[in-house]
Amino acid sequence: MPSVEAVILAAGQGTRMKSSLPKVLHPLAGKPLLAHVLDVARDVGVVRMHTVVGHGADRVKEYFSDCADISWVDQVEQLGTGHAVLQAMPAVDPDSTVLVLYGDVPLLSPQTLQSLIDVVSPESIGLLTVNLEDPTGYGRILRDQDGHVVAIVEEKDATEEQKQVREVNTGILALRAADLNRWLPALSNDNAQGEYYLTDVIAMAAGAGMRVESRQPCYPQEVEGINSRSQLAGIERWYQLQQAEQLMAGGVTLYDPGRLDIRGSLVAGQDVTLDVNIVFEGEVRLGSGVSIGPNCVISNALIGDGVTIHANSIIEEAEIHDNATVGPFARLRPGTVLEHEAKVGNFVEIKKSHIGVGAKVNHLSYIGDSDVGERVNIGAGTITCNYDGVNKHKTILESDVFVGSNTSLVAPVIVGAGATIGAGSTITGKVGKGQLAIARGKQRNLDSWSRPKKNPQ
Ligand code: UD1
Ligand code: CA
Repeated sequence: MPSVEAVILAAGQGTRMKSSLPKVLHPLAGKPLLAHVLDVARDVGVVRMHTVVGHGADRVKEYFSDCADISWVDQVEQLGTGHAVLQAMPAVDPDSTVLVLYGDVPLLSPQTLQSLIDVVSPESIGLLTVNLEDPTGYGRILRDQDGHVVAIVEEKDATEEQKQVREVNTGILALRAADLNRWLPALSNDNAQGEYYLTDVIAMAAGAGMRVESRQPCYPQEVEGINSRSQLAGIERWYQLQQAEQLMAGGVTLYDPGRLDIRGSLVAGQDVTLDVNIVFEGEVRLGSGVSIGPNCVISNALIGDGVTIHANSIIEEAEIHDNATVGPFARLRPGTVLEHEAKVGNFVEIKKSHIGVGAKVNHLSYIGDSDVGERVNIGAGTITCNYDGVNKHKTILESDVFVGSNTSLVAPVIVGAGATIGAGSTITGKVGKGQLAIARGKQRNLDSWSRPKKNPQ
């Protein structure tokens, strides 16, 4: 089998986006349009992506500068889709199969692309078409009496009769590089738009006696190009709804499939319950029986079985083990690990800390750079003073420590197993195992004292 290379057209300006950001960098489900195209190409085994850029080329190249499988092609003047593909051909392996894609058509499925690649042979090329209720603006597919595709005519060049055709060109095709190398240099721009049309290779293929095999996508949204912010929003909703359907099919309860956003990948076990307005970012895994309340943002997190996350919690790069409880209004920052049955309550921020099995941080606390042992109980308003203005220091609370409310733990500090800290303490030194530490002003009660009185005017 010849290798498959992609030519991705992304040189257009995207005027209707009315944006300083190049169109193909606008995010769909948290990822630039062009990144979706690159990913689906990789999914079908494309080894090189020849990406044709023009408007905003520098920013696009910079965004993808880590992708070694992209080879950039500059198209300074946009003289048409045929001209764009021609610019890429010198770098394309002449023995390969070429898949022509578009930087602003983000949601093609691998199945659809594979069906197109599979028909490519020395006798045939693959063309993706779709039937639309309203075909206005698209190139129309022309077929002969036997139903064979013989040409594509652009809207602006079409006769009234041709405009009645509702089967349209998606622009996506698969064919041998050798054929493109023969046909592209022969294109002319003698048409209504004065452009070199890639679509003219269809008539060339038919004229050379080759079969043009048409395939159709599973969903019309797969081939929808994004030209405006309204279309972008429409396709985002469609994509999110598809993901919601998949989750429900896998045993997840969604209180409202229309109010869920997955910007990355979400893997969920059985009997997970998701309330409304949850945003998942990056890679998130949920065990079975997880319940998440409304208005949570969860990024790159591993969440075990039976975990409950209450409303309005923000979780980023954290690991939460089985049956732990978080929130409402909790913030878990990168490097947080909650062990089994741990409890983090309201208005608690935790950063880069390990919270042991069954430990509790229930109210209004900041725990940073800490190691909190099993069954430790941290009282309301406890703060780890982990930063001295220059360096970060560690707080270690061994198992079964009890920290009274409103305690400041000035790191570095170690509190031994089973120790107790009196409420309102400022702990600056080591506390031994089982000791009681109290570090606060002593209470004085004065009898001979009267409140100040207002001066008479
Ligand atoms: C093209 C097809 C049309 C099809 C439609 C589907 C041609 C001649 N027509 O029309 O049959 O129905 O797509 O959306 O191919 N581009 C470049 N360089 C260029 C020209 C275009 O990179 O010189 C890129 C654009 O950024 C855009 C894409 O190619 O993403 C399509 O170009 P556009 O000129 O918009 O083609 P359409 O008129 O939409
Ligand atoms: Ca277009």
